[in-house]
Amino acid sequence: MSSLRSHDDTWDIKTSVGSTAVMVAAARAVETERPDALIRDPYAKLLVGNSGANVLWEKMLDPAIVARVEAIDADSAAHLHHMRSYQAVRTHFFDAYFNDAVAAGIRQVVILASGLDSRAYRLDWPAGTTVYEIDQPQVLEFKSTTLAENGVTPSADRREVAIDLRQDWPAALREAGFDPGAPTAWLAEGLLMYLPADAQDRLFAQISELSAPGSRVSAETAPAHAEERRQQMRERFKKVADEIGLEETIDVGELMYRDDDRAHVADWLNDHGWRAQSQAAVDEMRRLNRWIEGVPFADDKGAFSDFVTAERV
Ligand SMILES: C[S@@+](CC[C@H](N)C(=O)[O-])C[C@H]1O[C@@H](n2cnc3c(N)ncnc32)[C@H](O)[C@@H]1O
Repeated sequence: MSSLRSHDDTWDIKTSVGSTAVMVAAARAVETERPDALIRDPYAKLLVGNSGANVLWEKMLDPAIVARVEAIDADSAAHLHHMRSYQAVRTHFFDAYFNDAVAAGIRQVVILASGLDSRAYRLDWPAGTTVYEIDQPQVLEFKSTTLAENGVTPSADRREVAIDLRQDWPAALREAGFDPGAPTAWLAEGLLMYLPADAQDRLFAQISELSAPGSRVSAETAPAHAEERRQQMRERFKKVADEIGLEETIDVGELMYRDDDRAHVADWLNDHGWRAQSQAAVDEMRRLNRWIEGVPFADDKGAFSDFVTAERV
């Protein structure tokens, strides 16, 4: 297990796993400002700016800094471009997943480990949709307070379920009003890599128990970077960061669980009453013209996630 993690660790938006929510929101903020943006997250910049988190990845997404990185090390710059494109493609994929789910009549949504995901505010939910967001208390509190203070209101009936997903979250979800008899659309995006393999299995077993016929689930799988390559990339980043005077506060890779025996999500779901499909993120990036040529590790298939979607049968 990573030395930075323990079975009952907690965090706020500035620390540990909480700060990874800032990192991915920063990528959405940068994407939103592109003229050819794949997605629009008008609240990402506001949330990142108010977070107070000192995340190296977030700073490195700043286009001015990316340009400096390009001048120092082409591989590190390609990696940053990849990271930004990947986040845009991932957000685009799961936005479409929710649009399809509500078009099919689903009105109950659960976003697991919602972090700074602003879908409950920015998507065009049909009347009568309830969006439950589960994350650690301080993370949810930061998001809802910051958005409320800036006059941003949810576009659905948004309900917070402030609990760790390693605790009895199904009970907390029911207490918040969740109806296990109604079909649900679930999402686990940017989560599985922060859970040990057994907690991942337990999570999907709990989701399955709460899923009425017609429910859907979607997930981004945990990547499995080859350790040696990861170490190489970390050293290069550190060198670049030192050269441009950025301080690394946390190694995100060290927050993840790299369990070799982790179940493949689509296989697990297919074996437990779901009909699942898996889409390689790399293929989705190519389809949307967002694959970055020259990205290090391109030949290391395990380094890239899949996007899994499934329907309860
Ligand atoms: C990389 S962020 C992803 C946030 C969001 N899903 C997105 O894509 O923007 C990881 C999030 O997972 C949450 N998280 C990780 N492990 C968790 C756990 N055991 N219980 C609750 N939340 C967890 C963190 O608090 C953080 O908000």
